[in-house]
Amino acid sequence: MSERYIFPHKHLLGIEPLSAQDITAILDQAEAFEEVCERPDIKIVPALRKRLVVNLFFENSTRTRNSFEIAEKRLSAEIINFDANASALAKGETLVDTALNLEAMRPDLTVMRHSAAGAHALLARHIKAGVINAGDGAHEHPTQALLDAYTLRKRLGRLDGLKVAIVGDIRHSRVVRSNLWLLTKMGAKVTLVGPPTLLPTEMKEAWPTVDFSYDLDAVLPEQDAIMMLRIQFERGTGQFIPGQGEYARFYQLNAARMKRAKKDVVVMHPGPMNRGVEITSDVADGPNNVILDQVTNGVPVRMAVLYLLGVRRGDSEA
Ligand code: NCD
Repeated sequence: MSERYIFPHKHLLGIEPLSAQDITAILDQAEAFEEVCERPDIKIVPALRKRLVVNLFFENSTRTRNSFEIAEKRLSAEIINFDANASALAKGETLVDTALNLEAMRPDLTVMRHSAAGAHALLARHIKAGVINAGDGAHEHPTQALLDAYTLRKRLGRLDGLKVAIVGDIRHSRVVRSNLWLLTKMGAKVTLVGPPTLLPTEMKEAWPTVDFSYDLDAVLPEQDAIMMLRIQFERGTGQFIPGQGEYARFYQLNAARMKRAKKDVVVMHPGPMNRGVEITSDVADGPNNVILDQVTNGVPVRMAVLYLLGVRRGDSEA
């Protein structure tokens, strides 16, 4: 990477606006922060000292919210956790009004999770602080794709040329959409796998270079990594599948299916897992899984994003 490269973005609204160079810069920065996170004693650096980060979670989250908060603490940021349920939004205030009130308090960065696709772009238009998308509806979840890429790169040494299958509730998954952008920009070959009802035709049209398959057994042998997804019942997926048993018969990653995969295939899951539905415990806890590594890697990756956006100077709207 050239010496003169400066991360050019003010916000992280998704992976779509990032270049391969931006993605590599985040992953390389995360590597430096991983060293901080693995220190035996004090795992804190002063990079965001005196910067104020607001965490705004309008949708449930355990992993992502905790991971951001730990990342912020490791960078010495000041943190405000905005309790969306107890907020004025619950009293009928609009998101824009909440944003303007937030802006009036001059935070440096805002991390938000929201059920509406595009909520972050709206927020970014109204506030001066950098906005980080921690998940917007079924649109994007950029830090999840970045930590997935970090985990893959660490385990397999590269992203370019890797074959990655993403399996399950493709229709409702923001994790898929961010991973599609990221993996294709970095030269990986992606196959999306699921029942026809969960593989929307619009996606096939939008992603002509991506393979789509209804047959997990057929695509399994050639994959370097398999990313399993949860059925998102809270987004109405129940009506798209005949039943969990039937779904599991064709799309569950279990010991019998693993026999078809490469010996060293990497098994991933963004969590939360539904053990016994999309994945069985022997596979989820087995030697090929990197599921908790993904969680561990989430902290340095989010530190990298917070750092690259938070120490940025200038006011370009990129
Ligand atoms: C995912 C999400 O919320 O989009 N989880 C996560 O952030 N690790 C996936 C999911 O909810 O199934």
